[in-house]
Amino acid sequence: MDNSLRLDRFVSESLQITRKESKALLSRGKITVNDVIEKNGSRHVAAADIIQADGIVLSRSEHVYLMLNKPAGIVSASRASDSAAAAGYAETTVTDLVREAFPRRELFPAGRLDKTSTGFILLTDDGILAHALLAPGRHVPKTYEVVIDTPLTEAMITGFAAGPVLADGTRLDGAEVRALSADGLTVEVILHQGVYHQIKRMFGLFDAGVNALHRTAIGPVRLDPSLKPGDWRPLTGEELASLR
Ligand code: URA
Repeated sequence: MDNSLRLDRFVSESLQITRKESKALLSRGKITVNDVIEKNGSRHVAAADIIQADGIVLSRSEHVYLMLNKPAGIVSASRASDSAAAAGYAETTVTDLVREAFPRRELFPAGRLDKTSTGFILLTDDGILAHALLAPGRHVPKTYEVVIDTPLTEAMITGFAAGPVLADGTRLDGAEVRALSADGLTVEVILHQGVYHQIKRMFGLFDAGVNALHRTAIGPVRLDPSLKPGDWRPLTGEELASLR
């Protein structure tokens, strides 16, 4: 911890809560610095200071792991693209949605969703975990709820399972698809790799279009249904352990 760290920031980063929540803890007298209640969040703390929340000693966690429900229209990147900047329009990225809470962290999305897609984005500054989740050899499954414009067919199910060959010759790994709705228009797709526009291109092979695409799980961790579009929360210890 460096000498210039503000107490409210230290509390928010170590508990992985927002700055607003950390200020609320401070004003309620829950935080002590060297055994003295401290309500002033702008005060700076140093490495030698012992900071406690409700009597529990806090340490700044090495990494941040956030589950975000990405809304449509937001880009899965750490910063806006040069092309957007050059064209003079503002582009909101997934990291913009959490920047206020983690202003000093270099967070990035571990895996992308198309701008129009929604759902589970894992934001972290842990490059090793991100690499492990994305490495082609690891085949970590990603689960999606997809609305298609023509009902699911047997040909799609067997074609996806066999590993379809895309129009550009890319042979994909096998993927699972099953109907979630009686009309066969809402389906669940499980991918074991991440190729650009993969689901849209796979359905395109069967002349089916994708109207909506929502990621519901990464590996064994399901998107928390209480998170509204744009909301996020830290992964629980259990969720993080299951990803590792
Ligand atoms: N496949 C797609 O086509 N789009 C996504 O956003 C994710 C998977």
